[in-house]
Amino acid sequence: MSRILSAVQPTNNLHIGNYLGAIKQWVELQESNETIFFIVDLHALTVYQKPELLRQNILDVARMYLALGLNPNKSIIFVQSHVKEHAELAWILGTIVKMGELERMTQFKDKIESLSEITGQIKNLEMLIKDETRIYLAPVTAQEILDYIKKRGHSNVGLFTYPVLMAADILLYDTERVPVGEDQKQHVELTRDIAERFNKLYGKVVFTVPEPMISQSGARVMGLDDPAKKMSKSAASAYNYISLLDDVATVKKKIKKAVTDSGAEVLGGASRPALNNLLTIYSLFSDKSVTALEKEFAGKGYVDFKNGLADALNAFLEAFQEKFHAIKESEARDILADGAARASTRSALKMAQIKEAIGLI
Ligand code: TYM
Repeated sequence: MSRILSAVQPTNNLHIGNYLGAIKQWVELQESNETIFFIVDLHALTVYQKPELLRQNILDVARMYLALGLNPNKSIIFVQSHVKEHAELAWILGTIVKMGELERMTQFKDKIESLSEITGQIKNLEMLIKDETRIYLAPVTAQEILDYIKKRGHSNVGLFTYPVLMAADILLYDTERVPVGEDQKQHVELTRDIAERFNKLYGKVVFTVPEPMISQSGARVMGLDDPAKKMSKSAASAYNYISLLDDVATVKKKIKKAVTDSGAEVLGGASRPALNNLLTIYSLFSDKSVTALEKEFAGKGYVDFKNGLADALNAFLEAFQEKFHAIKESEARDILADGAARASTRSALKMAQIKEAIGLI
């Protein structure tokens, strides 16, 4: 029995990487642990979000959590901005974090790069927005994005201090373990350093030092169009990822287009990154081992393999989407309000301890 906490940003629809890398574990963990899962809307603001889409995405992610199996009777489920202590603690922690520590965060470096890429490729934006599969971007015009970039610049302070808010999220609840995908490990390690530094500085064990929990497989699902990069919600092409809300035809189309390795054998291994990724995904959605799948498709080509993979994905997604659509927004709102009340009771107590330790009256 451990205290477990994790979260997802409500940016666009979740993809199968978010599910395999994080949420799948959460559903299992809530059975025998104390679990807290939330939606980090304040983190999402570090990249421009159109207000009406953000509102929709927050509620959609809550409905996805429920449809994927998170249970409000077993887990506390809420929205980050509904519990004011997250932002409050982030400020306090920011006073003991070094600039250099944040400069070293790979997610920060990647985001800065991709933002400047956007400005460099504004022509492509027009094209991307017209891509029928990129549904979430459709209501944002290229002009709106351009105006935004001009107004706000390529980078913002929030993007830089993002890991400090994440540390506050974790430390506020005496979290012991944080189940996340590989890309978030560095942030959890920074959180450990911050907790230890704070405890040492004030001579008291105020914060529990958390451990990252990375699953054996599925912790780094790669892009379908580029197996050298992780699958990402903010990828330039919708052919990079499978969204949890993609329909049957879209999944088939995306899998058909997915990059493969040279040759025609259905075999994984380190030298075959594309097949390795597809086999891992297939295995996690079918409960067959990679070796069993390699045997099943021995002597058959990529076409048969891809058809099997698309069918396995669609079987999971169709069942999920049916549940998702059956959950009303009002039901999600009630669960989030109850979760925020339960989380606030804990965070207020913790905040009082922190203020006492540092000398605030
Ligand atoms: P976010 O929203 O980017 O991603 C949510 C979760 O999905 C995992 N993930 C992946 N796993 C495998 N393969 C991929 N391609 C892939 N892409 C994403 C992420 O590792 C993550 O577990 N900073 C966090 C949100 C956060 C948080 C927290 C997490 C804020 N506060 C406190 C834990 C505890 C993030 O950006 O998640």
